[in-house]
Amino acid sequence: AILMNRVPVIWLELQDCAGNSEALLRCDGPTIDEIVLDIVSLEFHETLQAASGHQAEKQMEEAMEHFKGKYLLFVEGSIPMGMNGQFGTIGAKAETFHDHLVRVAADAAAVVAVGSCATYGGIPAAAPNPTDAVGVMDVVKGKPLINIPACPANPSNMVGVILHYVLTGSIPELDSLLRPKFAFGYRIHDNCERRAHFDAGEYVEEWGDEGAKNNFCLYKVGCKGPMTFNNCSIVRYNEGVNWPIGVGRGCIGCSEPDFWDKYAYERPM
Ligand code: SF4
Ligand code: F3S
Repeated sequence: AILMNRVPVIWLELQDCAGNSEALLRCDGPTIDEIVLDIVSLEFHETLQAASGHQAEKQMEEAMEHFKGKYLLFVEGSIPMGMNGQFGTIGAKAETFHDHLVRVAADAAAVVAVGSCATYGGIPAAAPNPTDAVGVMDVVKGKPLINIPACPANPSNMVGVILHYVLTGSIPELDSLLRPKFAFGYRIHDNCERRAHFDAGEYVEEWGDEGAKNNFCLYKVGCKGPMTFNNCSIVRYNEGVNWPIGVGRGCIGCSEPDFWDKYAYERPM
C-alpha cells in the first residue's frame, strides 16, 4: 500500500565506504524501489541522487528548511575529530564532517546511525585511529538516536526502523547501546544454523578439513557468534541468500563495538 505521507529522509555519508548504502540497495522486502517511491521521500543521498555540487547543496538546504523537525537523518560513516576535523570536509565552504553533522542533526526528528563506523567509529577508528574517528553518539546530543551497527548494517534492520517510525510515529525500543531490541536482542550463536554441531562438540579444526566439508561449527577457527548481538543468523543478507557463517567463514563480530581490534582475525584459546 502506498503511504500518502512519505517520511522525509536525509542521508549523510561521512568517513565511510558506502557499504550501508549498497546494502540498502539490495533490500528484498520492501525493495529499494518501494522504499524510495512509496515509503520515504529521499531528500538527499550523495550516492543515489542525480544532483551534485551547488545543486546538491541547495537541495540539502531546502530540504532542511522545508522539513524542519520532521526528517529522519541517516548517517553512514565515522566522524574524524583529529586536527580540528580537517580530515573530512564537505561543500563549497569546506565545512568539517563534525560541523556538518551537528548542523543537519539539529533540525532532525531523529538520527539513525547505520553501520559500525557511524555507531562506534568502526574501521576508521581501529588502532591506531589516525583521524581520531568517533561515532555519531559521541557528537550528536539531545536528539532521539538509534544505532544500527554491523559492517554493513542489515538493510532489514534499517527498513524495520523506518517502518516502525512510519507506522507508529515513534522509534522502536532500544537497548543500552541504543540498538533496536527487535534486531539486537540476541546473539548470532542463539540462532545459528551450525549450533547443533557446537552442542555436539563437532568443530572445524582447520580450513578445508572434513568438518568444514560437513558444515561443522566454526568456533575453533575463530567464530565470534557467541559474543555478537545481531540478527543476521535469521534474516541473512542479499535478499536472504546467505550470510558469513552460511558461506563457511565464522562471524567476525562486525556489529560489536571495536570489532576490528577485538575480534576480526583473532582465534580463541
Ligand atoms: Fe556459534 Fe559460530 Fe558455531 Fe554458529 S558457527 S554455532 S555462531 S560458534
Ligand atoms: Fe557480521 Fe557476524 Fe553477522 S560478521 S554480518 S555479525 S555473522
